[in-house]
Amino acid sequence: MNPINQTAVLSASLIEKVEKEATKYPTRRAAVKSALRYAQAEHGWISEEVVKAVASLLALRPIEVFEVATFYDMFYTQPVGKHPIRVCTNVSCLLRGSGKIIDALCEQLNVELGETTPDGRFTVLEAECLGACGGAPMMAVGNDYHEDLTPETINQNLEPYRS
Ligand code: FES
Repeated sequence: MNPINQTAVLSASLIEKVEKEATKYPTRRAAVKSALRYAQAEHGWISEEVVKAVASLLALRPIEVFEVATFYDMFYTQPVGKHPIRVCTNVSCLLRGSGKIIDALCEQLNVELGETTPDGRFTVLEAECLGACGGAPMMAVGNDYHEDLTPETINQNLEPYRS
């Protein structure tokens, strides 16, 4: 693994925030999730360069950071659109028709699951339970939750993100 200049990848303010966060935990490893959250906010997704830079910053091996980045589906390890759409396909949402929601989204946005629209606005993704099972089927557009979805009304849910 090549050495990495963390300041070439991560901004000074991000490094400062991660250092401050790391003081809250008994080990620097415990700050990985926070560091990845800040890095994703800055970069839009978690690239290999970001993984290496975060690892360097926290004095960890890149694999230790990569494991966290790939465990949580809120972290994107591939480039995504401006508004990633994560459709929950766990049990409650599955039983309440999340498959039809994905089909409707893909059809309306003219993409396959996992793809980004040509304008770079939306990426349709599957997600594990997002903790809103009472509103199944549901999806998160960025950090916004949309619940009790139907294929017929899903277009309205996306309207605020089109401009
Ligand atoms: Fe979909 Fe929990 S099963 S939010």
